[in-house]
Amino acid sequence: MRRAEFAQSSAHAVELLSHAAVHHLAGVTEAGEPVLKTVHGVVVDGWLCFHAAPAGEKTSLLRRPVVVGVEEVVAQVPSYFTDPERACPATTLYRAAQTHGVLEPIDEPTHKARVLQALMEKLQPEGGHRPLTAEDPLYAPAVRGLLIAGLRLDHVTRKDKLAQNKRPAEVLRLVEALWRRGAPGDARAIGFVLAANVQTPTPSFLAAPSGFALHPHPGHGWAEQVVELLRGTYWNDVFTDDDVRRAHEGSAAWVGATDREGRLVASARAVSDGGKHAWVYDVVVAPELRGRGLGRALCGLLLDHPAVRRCRRVWLGTRDAQRLYASFGFVPRSALPPRPYATTEMVLLRGPVG
Ligand SMILES: CC(C)(COP(=O)(O)OP(=O)(O)OC[C@H]1O[C@@H](n2cnc3c(N)ncnc32)[C@H](O)[C@@H]1OP(=O)(O)O)[C@@H](O)C(=O)NCCC(=O)NCCS
Repeated sequence: MRRAEFAQSSAHAVELLSHAAVHHLAGVTEAGEPVLKTVHGVVVDGWLCFHAAPAGEKTSLLRRPVVVGVEEVVAQVPSYFTDPERACPATTLYRAAQTHGVLEPIDEPTHKARVLQALMEKLQPEGGHRPLTAEDPLYAPAVRGLLIAGLRLDHVTRKDKLAQNKRPAEVLRLVEALWRRGAPGDARAIGFVLAANVQTPTPSFLAAPSGFALHPHPGHGWAEQVVELLRGTYWNDVFTDDDVRRAHEGSAAWVGATDREGRLVASARAVSDGGKHAWVYDVVVAPELRGRGLGRALCGLLLDHPAVRRCRRVWLGTRDAQRLYASFGFVPRSALPPRPYATTEMVLLRGPVG
């Protein structure tokens, strides 16, 4: 591996180790007993650290070589994606990272408290407690009593299995099959597979106007960017930035377009019950980029998203973009034949009327 590639892969490995909910710690005790434990790890100052009871099994690994691993299943790939009969092509796509080193005890109280506070910030990011410090009498006994151990992140390796061994045409077929299957996580998996295989031709469902890329799943930092994109839109006048952010994060489908710099320039989302109804909301294109086909491409992707595609009815409201939606087959509700019964649309308002 070239130096730059290694540096990048090592940064990715640290990122995966930092974000993993749990870590598997393995080693062999002095008595030759193999030990495998699951710990809540946190990365602090270039060390992967965790806490434990001072008399527990993990102490038998102190000052001994250990390995810590994390993994995340990205998608199960069934054999019939590539072969209608043979079971052999069945596989799992995953992201994994490992680090090797000597497990060291961390004894210095300030350092111990920093690790514990970092663990709280990771596992309880909403706060709701007094910050942990070594001097605080509320925490001093716990800081003294707990074992904090860690290993320096000097030797980290990342192993992602994201179809990098396949030819571009095969990766394309895989991505198309994942999109057609549309199981939970498949839209996200497509993003990982395409990012790991940049030579792959653009799948037709992600065809975008030149200079832009369509994404079937939200990427890093989209929550902040979409709030800016939607600022001032007429239908969001009664909602706060936080409402808008949470609405996007809670949507069954959220698609977007980025420019060459990776900036989110168009976004659309839908909530869905997966069978009967889906509702399209917050379709927006950056003002300076309107009229180039981004809105149309994005709507096409959203309507084809598995969470929306399988719904019998897709709803939306618009003040002036009727022509855009009519081109996909939307009709005004008033154009439908009346139902044999009358219903009253009702709403429970929490916040200002709008
Ligand atoms: C509506 C919007 C998403 C369309 O995106 P876009 O990238 O400009 O649209 P496209 O270039 O893909 O054009 C798609 C078609 O919609 C039409 N269209 C786009 N915006 C329109 C509007 N406001 N009124 C009428 N037609 C519109 C275009 O003329 C084009 O039709 P054509 O192919 O027949 O010429 C974009 O203009 C936007 O962000 N507007 C402000 C936010 C908004 O109103 N969102 C919709 C809420 S329901």
